[in-house]
Amino acid sequence: MAEAFGVYVHWPFCLAKCPYCDFNSHVRHEKPDEARYARAIAQELAYVKPRTQAREVTSIFFGGGTPSLMQPATVQSVLDEIARHWTISKDAEITLEANPTSVEAERFRGYRAAGVNRVSLGVQALDDASLKSLGRMHTAQEALAAVEVARENFPGFHST
Ligand SMILES: C[S@@+](CC[C@H](N)C(=O)[O-])C[C@H]1O[C@@H](n2cnc3c(N)ncnc32)[C@H](O)[C@@H]1O
Ligand code: SF4
Repeated sequence: MAEAFGVYVHWPFCLAKCPYCDFNSHVRHEKPDEARYARAIAQELAYVKPRTQAREVTSIFFGGGTPSLMQPATVQSVLDEIARHWTISKDAEITLEANPTSVEAERFRGYRAAGVNRVSLGVQALDDASLKSLGRMHTAQEALAAVEVARENFPGFHST
């Protein structure tokens, strides 16, 4: 059997920079050009391909930043590119990180349709004063509503 490996895809953009965050995440004044981003990821995948053996992809992780700002079509295009280079195993875990501020039911349905089967939702706290002091843009109530949307669309859902 081909040796398993995982693909990590970084989306470095956020609506706001949380003061505690050490990740490679940035706020842009204009919306990122998603078609350009998808082309850059496709180029990177093509660059990495010859350096790998014929392996099976068992895990794909869209991390950030805030990947829940991506259009589902962009997620789909990245997944298609990965599938063009390697075999994605039938039971691969395909995760997308989400911030409650950018959780929208329609986009979540789109991620699911694209092949995402797991989300990781950054709730942080269920207390409005704590959320405010952490610089979060969502309330506890909005976080709980986002949990519901995640639950409806993703059976293997967990929150951080
Ligand atoms: C990179 S974020 C991606 C999800 C989304 N951007 C959000 O904040 O909800 C994933 C998790 O990393 C956590 N995180 C950010 N900075 C951290 C730090 N310095 N130490 C530990 N966790 C951190 C966030 O709180 C969030 O729950
Ligand atoms: S939204 Fe997430 S990734 Fe962006 S700055 Fe806040 S913790 Fe970091």
